Amino acid sequence: MCEVYPPSEDTFLFLEALKEEKFEGRYCLEIGVGSGVITEFLAENNTVDGVDINPKAIEITKRRCKKCRIFYSDLFSSVRDKYDIIVFNPPYVPEEKEFGDIYDMSWYGGKNGRRIIDRFLDDFDMYLKKNGRMYMLQSSLSDLKKTIEKLKEKGFRSEILKTKKLFFEELIVIKAERDIINKR
Ligand SMILES: C[S@@+](CC[C@H](N)C(=O)[O-])C[C@H]1O[C@@H](n2cnc3c(N)ncnc32)[C@H](O)[C@@H]1O
Repeated sequence: MCEVYPPSEDTFLFLEALKEEKFEGRYCLEIGVGSGVITEFLAENNTVDGVDINPKAIEITKRRCKKCRIFYSDLFSSVRDKYDIIVFNPPYVPEEKEFGDIYDMSWYGGKNGRRIIDRFLDDFDMYLKKNGRMYMLQSSLSDLKKTIEKLKEKGFRSEILKTKKLFFEELIVIKAERDIINKR
């Protein structure tokens, strides 16, 4: 039985999108580091903090990314800084049945797939610098339209960077930035 979410299709699609964005010298936060591959990539050219609720994910990522600050946080509960870039590949799979162990928390998104996504979207902007960017992976199973509407309500415009069709869903990488009007 897995203890930590292994790098998967969503991880690789997210990595591909982030690589094409080519940012460097930024202060980044990864929420939900899992195995640490995304944090490790970001840390090649940026200063990176990473958080997770799974102690094993924190341990593995600390080992993998020695320069980074990796710590326990339930989303932003222990985050104190503001960042240029925030990235999150959230648990998004909708399931009627309740799941509860720490590994299930890496993929289980509650009944509508949005249990963690909505909490994240409620708060992320408080931890993002004025000109900061947020990148999130989303599945077609967990209501992309609602994500884009929520971002719009908060004064963020969003862009779809990448999509990938899988057997039963489509994966989507979203980039969000504050609208110019709201940057003043
Ligand atoms: C889909 S996995 C992504 C892991 C890794 N970033 C990747 O792309 O392979 C989601 C990660 O978010 C973590 N997570 C779930 N709920 C969280 C929460 N409330 N706060 C912080 N991390 C959370 C899980 O433990 C898991 O490591």
